[in-house]
Amino acid sequence: MPNIVKKAVFPAAGLGTRFLPATKASPKEMLPIVDKPLIQYAVEEAENCGIKEFIMITGKSKRAIEDHFDSAWELEENLKSKGKQAMLEEIRKLSRHQFAYIRQGAPLGLGHAILCSKAFVNNEPFAVILSDDIIDPEDNLLGEMLKIYNEHGATVLALQRVPQEEVHRYGIIAGKEVKKNIFRITDMVEKPKQSSAPSDIAVIGRYILTPDIFNFLEKTLPGKGGEIQLTDALNALLQKKPVYGYLFEGTRYDAGDKLGYLKATVEFALKTPTVRDEFKKYLLSTVASIINKEQ
Ligand code: UTP
Repeated sequence: MPNIVKKAVFPAAGLGTRFLPATKASPKEMLPIVDKPLIQYAVEEAENCGIKEFIMITGKSKRAIEDHFDSAWELEENLKSKGKQAMLEEIRKLSRHQFAYIRQGAPLGLGHAILCSKAFVNNEPFAVILSDDIIDPEDNLLGEMLKIYNEHGATVLALQRVPQEEVHRYGIIAGKEVKKNIFRITDMVEKPKQSSAPSDIAVIGRYILTPDIFNFLEKTLPGKGGEIQLTDALNALLQKKPVYGYLFEGTRYDAGDKLGYLKATVEFALKTPTVRDEFKKYLLSTVASIINKEQ
């Protein structure tokens, strides 16, 4: 069946406070993992699933994202004159798609960021990708979610089990497993205390949403942290319509957090042919001896 989800929304207007001071004047989404910024991994993930239209929600200090996906005439001429063909192709690829940029005037929450895309999404289902959740491209999480959407024509959320002591950082679901790793969600709680969490299954940064979410977002009042929470709108939606979740068992890095970002950097470097061997040697010799001395 052809993919009927053609649009992806990338909320990228958050303040990125966990990465200050790096994110004071530069977007968190432009932090690189090896040699590609977080937002490029996210866009490539959508592209690999046949998505053709990209809607970026940006805000203050986020202009570098637009420049990254724009053509760069001087740089391209320079690479051409030096015969750096492979890099030239890489750079040109970045500007081959059309992007729509929407400013979220103030960071009023993820739900509000998504609501800002309403006029551009129009009356179609769409994917939402949070670029700070890095998914190993081999795991094809979004592809699996699109299959579920194509079968049910309903909202699909990405889920992952998290340690009990981390449930307070996520939206946590209650639900019934209707097929292996596919849940019909019955309730969602944003950042619950460990004692009141309905499960250890968290919503992670991939969503397939239907346009009716906008009606619910419009009615959503500021919730946890004073922000307009997507979780609250989804909770209202699931009272009226089915909401499914796909339990992802692959690898995700929370690159919006320092530790997750460092883990992603090390593991992606170990998969990058140009640095892998030397980097592995460095980890096994220099890093191992520093750690041994500390113990
Ligand atoms: P986070 O919860 O990671 O917030 O947002 P943040 O501001 O980016 O980072 P911290 O927590 O202060 O360190 C999840 C996603 O939602 C987007 C963010 O850009 C990120 O992709 N977002 C969040 C918005 O686009 N607008 C908002 O108002 C809030």
